[in-house]
Amino acid sequence: MLLKRSPDLKYSDVTPRQVYLNRRKFLFGMGLTGGVALAGKNLANLLYPSVRAYASTKLEGVVKGPFSTDEKVTPEGLVTTYNNFYEFGTEKRDPSKNSGKFQTSPWSVSVEGEVNKPRKFTMDEILKLAPLEERIYRHRCVEAWSIVVPWIGFSFSVLANLVEPTPKAKYVAFESYFDPKQMPLWKYAGIQLPYVEGLRLDEAMHPLALLCVGMYGETLPNQDGAPVRMVLPWKYGFKSIKSLVKIKFVKNQPQTTWNITNAHEYGFYSNVNPKVDHPRWSQARERRLPGYFKNTPTLMFNGYADQVASLYNGMDLVKNY
Ligand code: MTE
Repeated sequence: MLLKRSPDLKYSDVTPRQVYLNRRKFLFGMGLTGGVALAGKNLANLLYPSVRAYASTKLEGVVKGPFSTDEKVTPEGLVTTYNNFYEFGTEKRDPSKNSGKFQTSPWSVSVEGEVNKPRKFTMDEILKLAPLEERIYRHRCVEAWSIVVPWIGFSFSVLANLVEPTPKAKYVAFESYFDPKQMPLWKYAGIQLPYVEGLRLDEAMHPLALLCVGMYGETLPNQDGAPVRMVLPWKYGFKSIKSLVKIKFVKNQPQTTWNITNAHEYGFYSNVNPKVDHPRWSQARERRLPGYFKNTPTLMFNGYADQVASLYNGMDLVKNY
């Protein structure tokens, strides 16, 4: 994720190459004056043609969920071609190029550990657990870029309550699907796989913590973590684990992929915090894609402080980075 990128790279370095070339081609062809005539959504669609690595399905009956920001939604075509999903390659465009054949059906998620009612949920069952909500969340990557995405899903607590965590459950450990045959680029990922993540139980049960099954009105594209992932908008993006297959309620703090990879740079909590810099760059500002500059101020807990700050009362957020 971070081994090679500096937040001060030129825009041409950080913009997906195809997007950058398309934009140049477009500007050249239209002439700058003609381009002004194309505005809003049409322009976004032209600049960022949507790439879905498999045929997504429209999700029916989606209602407006709580906590949505009214900030401008990032063009879908950019969000689906600018991904971190190391199982499918380490360049931002790799997941959209390499995950097309990833089999996400049939799919089930095992929920186990310190619970009274361990069970497996098929994808069909998950989709029927609760009304699907659209929640427009800010999504802030530790690399200091950010996007605004209309995710679809429901609070993780809905699923957790069904399995009845026991009093011994203090944390939740999450695990991604891993199949070297379907993910041949895993060898170059530079991280231990399967990808694992973890939350304290109260963080996982917070209503903002989204069990996510779709985006932009449809099921998740493979590169965005199909068919089911977590979205934790107050934490850096790497906590939002993709393509979930196992959820285990546990007594002790679980291991997490980026902490295993580089504990000095990535802690367990990884709450967005403009006052705590990454050892190699400032976290005070972010580059709101598709913007050119790192000039958007980063907000404490990514702007969700009113909802989540109380989870961390009395904690030293410099030590618990
Ligand atoms: N989950 C898995 N299984 N593998 C990954 O490489 N990358 C993480 C996270 N979840 C990752 C993952 C990182 S580093 C980020 S920033 C987000 O996914 C990116 O999510 P997005 O592609 O939807 O923006």
